[in-house]
Amino acid sequence: MGRARTLAQVYRRFGEVDAAGTSPLYERVAVALSESGEALRAIEAAPARKRHPTVILAALHDLALAGRAPALAAAYAAADGDAAAGAAIETLLRMTDSVVAVAVRRRTRPDETGRCAVLYPAIAEAARRVGANAIGLIDVGCSAGLNLNVDRVAVTYGRGQPLGDPSSPVRFSSSIVGDRPVPAGAMPEVVARVGVDLDPLDVTDADDARWLRACLWPDQPDQPERGARLEAELALAATAPPLLLAGDAVEVLPDAFARVPADALPVVTTTWALSRFSLESRLRFLQRLDEAALGRAVAWVSAEGVGVAPAIPTLGDRRASGHSIIGLAVFGQSVLRTEAVGRCWSRGRMLAWLAGS
Ligand SMILES: C[S@@+](CC[C@H](N)C(=O)[O-])C[C@H]1O[C@@H](n2cnc3c(N)ncnc32)[C@H](O)[C@@H]1O
Repeated sequence: MGRARTLAQVYRRFGEVDAAGTSPLYERVAVALSESGEALRAIEAAPARKRHPTVILAALHDLALAGRAPALAAAYAAADGDAAAGAAIETLLRMTDSVVAVAVRRRTRPDETGRCAVLYPAIAEAARRVGANAIGLIDVGCSAGLNLNVDRVAVTYGRGQPLGDPSSPVRFSSSIVGDRPVPAGAMPEVVARVGVDLDPLDVTDADDARWLRACLWPDQPDQPERGARLEAELALAATAPPLLLAGDAVEVLPDAFARVPADALPVVTTTWALSRFSLESRLRFLQRLDEAALGRAVAWVSAEGVGVAPAIPTLGDRRASGHSIIGLAVFGQSVLRTEAVGRCWSRGRMLAWLAGS
């Protein structure tokens, strides 16, 4: 009883606080689930860490998109909250095992889309500092590897400063905080794209791509744009799918470095990934970069919460203060140079560039 009440409170709060004003459908569905003892018992069939509303609602959405929960799909398409609430409960009770299986199998992916806006100038800066004419990208904790197309998207900063490919079908924008513009330099040619993840998503796999769509909420105010941008990102990624290496980054990184041609600078990127690593793993990750730099220069660009990326300065900011630090580390000739080149907010929707030229 106690556990069910707690779960009920979690769902009610999610509906009334997190979804309210953003997604009327998820508000209505989450509150309805919180009020249904049967639904809560079905959710309790999932392991505790997989019972959160974002996971269960994404799993239900996935089944709707897969054509396995037609009433729920129709209710979402019609933006009919009452019908969606009824259909969500019905689906959860009828297909408890399937909902739980999706929830257990998958990790939700947040959809803030400023990552490339953060990565582009920092990667270009890394290449400039090393004097590299070609780079190989290695994204660690890559999920679907969308960061690996950073050179193939168009980014607009502040009032219009462009970077990237202006003709790209994938377009991002990021507000600039402060008065320092991001460096205008283009990044050199990308000659290798390698994604590393415990469980990478393959954009050319229908189930994996559907899961990315399922993680979007069905009726957020800017859902049409978000949905269209995700489709454009998936289509762009599918034209040159990255090499995906599945496994623990600490184990897999040597193989990833080996995939970058000798005349290219390997640039490792991490965006909001290292908090999932134990402290010991973060240090071993750093050690792997150091080892790879015995034979060649190596760069690491990070966008991580304050104090999460080892060796990257925190600028005196408090941990968990809601923003992230953009780090740039260059390993070469037994020297490690690390710098915080910026701060960012909302996964890169706003950024402050700090580094001098
Ligand atoms: C919070 S997600 C971040 C994903 C993506 N970089 C982003 O910006 O949204 C963390 C990712 O790191 C992966 N991950 C966690 N521990 C890992 C490890 N030891 N080695 C490789 N990947 C790991 C997870 O599978 C997950 O896809």
